Amino acid sequence: MSLLDAYEKTKQELTVTPEKLTEITNHFVSELNKGLSKTGGNIPMIPGWVMDYPTGQETGDYLAIDLGGTNLRVVKVSLLGDSKFTYEAEKYPIPVPMRTGKSEDLWNFIADSLDTFVKKHYGSRGSSMAKLPLGFTFSYPASQDAINEGVLQRWTKGFDIDGVEGENVVPLLQDAINVRNTPVEVVSLINDTTGTLVASKYCDPETIMGLIFGTGCNGAYYDVCNDIPKLEGRLPDDLLKENSPMAINCEYGAFDNEWAVLPRTKYDIQIDQESPRPGQQYYEKMIAGYYLGEVLRLILLDYYSQDLIFKDQNIKPLQVPFAMDTSFPSRIEQHSATFVEGLFLDSFNIKTTEEERNIIHDLCLLIGTRSARLSVCGIAAICKKRNYKAGHCASDGSVFNMYPHFKERAHEALNDIFQWNCDPKDYPITLIHAEDGSGVGAAVIACLTEKRLLANKS
Ligand code: GLC
Repeated sequence: MSLLDAYEKTKQELTVTPEKLTEITNHFVSELNKGLSKTGGNIPMIPGWVMDYPTGQETGDYLAIDLGGTNLRVVKVSLLGDSKFTYEAEKYPIPVPMRTGKSEDLWNFIADSLDTFVKKHYGSRGSSMAKLPLGFTFSYPASQDAINEGVLQRWTKGFDIDGVEGENVVPLLQDAINVRNTPVEVVSLINDTTGTLVASKYCDPETIMGLIFGTGCNGAYYDVCNDIPKLEGRLPDDLLKENSPMAINCEYGAFDNEWAVLPRTKYDIQIDQESPRPGQQYYEKMIAGYYLGEVLRLILLDYYSQDLIFKDQNIKPLQVPFAMDTSFPSRIEQHSATFVEGLFLDSFNIKTTEEERNIIHDLCLLIGTRSARLSVCGIAAICKKRNYKAGHCASDGSVFNMYPHFKERAHEALNDIFQWNCDPKDYPITLIHAEDGSGVGAAVIACLTEKRLLANKS
């Protein structure tokens, strides 16, 4: 077999046809419903206890933190009403060993970063002032029976810290904050997708869902309490009104863990088997940023093992798992094939021929296209389930923001599913850049929660 033959075979495996997209979407709808049922299914469909739509008139000052896949972000947000806000934010990179380190190191790191932020932004008033309300964006599947708690179901995105799964993470964080006497109280725990949904709806009433296409991949939308069978008996009467909205954090990265429809390749299977949590997050492992560079690396290693590429070269640096993050395929696609030459020499000391460079470039195109096309099945499924015919899908995350052509490819795939037969600029359902979910979203949610508590008291 030649390198070109091998590439053609890979191309077939990575191409997702319109028929396949439709098949996946239909199965997705039934899995979303299963997740809301009493018995449950693969997709957790976690009620987020955000039970109001923002109006854009929320006001107040809030703190927010976001424990994402790569950074801890701390934000001071002022909601000004009229869909306006200001904020100041700082990023603290999460040290890589901490992803698989000890629980107390993680909470100490967050509390230290928060303490530094409060001292910097609130000065010496810090310890004597009234406690600042904090919205905690925790972007992992966490079960909630109330807005101010979250029991971690399982780590995702390569995190694997002992002693946190099965625990309510709010007291773990609050205890570390209290030890430092930082004047902060965690008032709400939210998922990044729920934050994105609410922040965007604060600014744009046409928002129908909040989506993250980043290190991980997930979506949130508003359902109606009466249509969520698993809420039966879990809702205090004062919260249940006819058609009360409930934000649902789908956690749909777990879609198709039983592998009924996804066109998984041997590379996807290998990624799963070598991950800390095999058998979980099948969908996410095919489309999210944490894995896209790894797919490219495994394909190249496969070609190398067949003596089709990088012939007679020592490729040791490329044999290190996750040696290429998503910025590799996304930068390669952004530039022409010649860019590959310098990149592979500098990063891995590997020389490439012109044919190899062209094929690597085209592989990145295939990997990015597959990610975008499969990603929209979650969107299409939510639209079908809620019967949304039009609206804005507020989107954020490194893949959405950085991977070339992601949005166009996603729109094309949505059109493959819905067959709109119109000009792309007139597509009724579109992905638009989200407002800052973990800052503004967390603040709006903290404000809605305060309002609700006050209303219940009076
Ligand atoms: C993973 C997490 C989920 C998060 C998503 C995007 O899927 O489990 O909670 O929303 O990544 O960050």
